[in-house]
Amino acid sequence: MQLDGRVILAPMSRYSYLQYREFMMRFGACMCVTEMVSDSGIVHGDRRTMPYLETGDDHPVAVQIFGDDPELMGRAAARVLEVNPSVDAIDVNMGCPVEKVVRRGAGSSLMKDPALCGRIMAAVKASVDVPVTAKIRLGWSSGSITFREVISELESAGADGIGLHVRTRAEKYAGMPHYDLVGNLRDEMSVPLMISGNIYTPEDARRAMEITGADAVMVARGAVGNPALISRTDSMLRTGELPEEPTVSQQADWCLELARMTIAAEGEERGCKIMRSIAANFMTGVKYSHQVRLELTRISTYAELESILSRVCEARGDERITAHGRGILRIGPCRCTPRSSPRGRGRSPLAFRASPAWRPTARGPPPPAGG
Ligand SMILES: Cc1cc2nc3c(=O)[nH]c(=O)nc-3n(C[C@H](O)[C@H](O)[C@H](O)COP(=O)(O)O)c2cc1C
Repeated sequence: MQLDGRVILAPMSRYSYLQYREFMMRFGACMCVTEMVSDSGIVHGDRRTMPYLETGDDHPVAVQIFGDDPELMGRAAARVLEVNPSVDAIDVNMGCPVEKVVRRGAGSSLMKDPALCGRIMAAVKASVDVPVTAKIRLGWSSGSITFREVISELESAGADGIGLHVRTRAEKYAGMPHYDLVGNLRDEMSVPLMISGNIYTPEDARRAMEITGADAVMVARGAVGNPALISRTDSMLRTGELPEEPTVSQQADWCLELARMTIAAEGEERGCKIMRSIAANFMTGVKYSHQVRLELTRISTYAELESILSRVCEARGDERITAHGRGILRIGPCRCTPRSSPRGRGRSPLAFRASPAWRPTARGPPPPAGG
């Protein structure tokens, strides 16, 4: 599977719903990943789980699954492809820090057991004929940094690519990611590396790729309400040129477009509830917008959203958003010697290659755990 670009829309529970992915992919992400979906929910055909497997105009898309049992994970992956054969890849969650998930040994809890990570990867690989990636963290805590061991196990098990969120489980999503620990990491790896952590500006993306040598960046919180982060980063990585930030009117139009897509799928009441946590982000960086952003977190109807945004546009529509980077150094200084130029221009395209363990026809039952 060859991807056209180096900017990936990272998975985010409660944000990466289908219409959000469809909307964001229009800005030129080369791939997106669904919210994480429970292995047992998939295997048992749970009616609340199955809608998460729907895809649409969001290809290429990876469905992310989570669990801790290799056999069940293999069955879940196979089921995903049975239910939705258009899914382009499976991604295995090995980074979720949520208590409910780690308590059952899944998500970032797996970072404590590199061998189990390998067994899960092997089982999933043997069950599907699409590329399989994993998304990991640095480790469980600063006292348990295991990403190198986990990467090695995943590679041996045939992973086609690895996403790395440069924080530990203990850090959850806070603080500066530790790019210091992953200098030139890609040179140690045999499969594509997708890097994640505090990508808020195209410069952050370039810096993260320079430091790590990663093949791609994953944009997450930085792209919520800032879809142009994707197109601007993509443009900078392809051509070296950085397009201007969007105007306030442009942001308002995009916000309304996403709202219409969300409401069309979910109905006005639920659609507006979903948009409450997203809409205000479209106005981040607009001068004197504090009150407006507060109002956007309380909308109940599309008309309300439209009227708030048109008020802002009347006053500041032609201004350009300036503060998405907020001038804060999001990726800290790194003591390692970064590459002089980012991977990207002039390099071969990002591709998930069939590795030796990749078996195109194996859609049968998964191997025994440990296989
Ligand atoms: C609200 C929220 C939900 C997330 N959900 C997932 C998820 O379902 N699966 C996953 O692998 N990562 C998930 N992540 C992690 C992101 O994909 C990303 O790795 C992380 O936020 C670091 O990137 P950032 O600092 O640029 O936001 C989530 C992050 C946030 C903030």
